[in-house]
Amino acid sequence: MLPEPCDLQTFMPSLFSKSVLSRFAPTSFGEDESSLHASELEVILRAVPKRRREFTAGRRLAHGLLADLRKDSIPLVPDDDRCPVWPSGVVGSISHSSALCAVAVSLSERYQSVGLDVEDIHPLDEPLVERICLPEEISGLDSEQSGHRGKLLFSIKEAVYKCQFPLSRVFLGFHDVKVEIEGTHFCATVLKENAADITGKEIEGAYALHLGHVFSAARIFA
Ligand SMILES: CC(C)(COP(=O)(O)OP(=O)(O)OC[C@H]1O[C@@H](n2cnc3c(N)ncnc32)[C@H](O)[C@@H]1OP(=O)(O)O)[C@@H](O)C(=O)NCCC(=O)NCCS
Repeated sequence: MLPEPCDLQTFMPSLFSKSVLSRFAPTSFGEDESSLHASELEVILRAVPKRRREFTAGRRLAHGLLADLRKDSIPLVPDDDRCPVWPSGVVGSISHSSALCAVAVSLSERYQSVGLDVEDIHPLDEPLVERICLPEEISGLDSEQSGHRGKLLFSIKEAVYKCQFPLSRVFLGFHDVKVEIEGTHFCATVLKENAADITGKEIEGAYALHLGHVFSAARIFA
């Protein structure tokens, strides 16, 4: 496994444009809590070791990226909805799998929001496929193909959710979003009714496979 953080751009250049800085590292990168701010340590004071590691890995990666953006290293604490509160003028997203942590940040003058997700590529079981996917998203696929497509759609929908939520504060279920995939790009349409700001909204992005994981990236331009 990679010992140090790597730029997503190096391995997956099509995921984000160059105006998004993004990095990933093994979760073990979160074993060193020494650089956390006191208020960040407070968040994980009573957390189990796995959660401490993933939280710390995300914060360490994020602080490094903020330094690259020439932004001050303020504490990145979660708000009441669990969204990290980014410094003024910055948007970002954090994701964890059991093995990896990944973070993306950009300037809000370029993007209103970004959403990132990382998942291992193990296929979903059939009942989960039905919970995550709309029938049209898996039509014509056999059960093995549906399991793999389901995992990809799960990751894309999580990235889309994390992209839209900080702007809308609207909860979306998996069937509230329809995803169309073309090559490694996707377009997600919000189907949820009675959500004036986002009903019918289209959110675009891309995905890439690396190290047995799928990385999904969604963005909304400024
Ligand atoms: C937030 C959510 C999407 C992903 O959380 P998760 O399963 O823990 O997965 P990840 O590790 O990829 O992401 C966690 C990170 O997302 C961020 N996050 C948490 N809640 C968030 C939110 N509401 N909006 C944006 N980002 C959020 C945090 O940075 C968190 O990491 P941290 O606690 O270490 O800071 C999920 O928990 C959730 O609330 N889902 C709601 C329903 C849904 O998924 N709908 C999809 C249909 S579009």
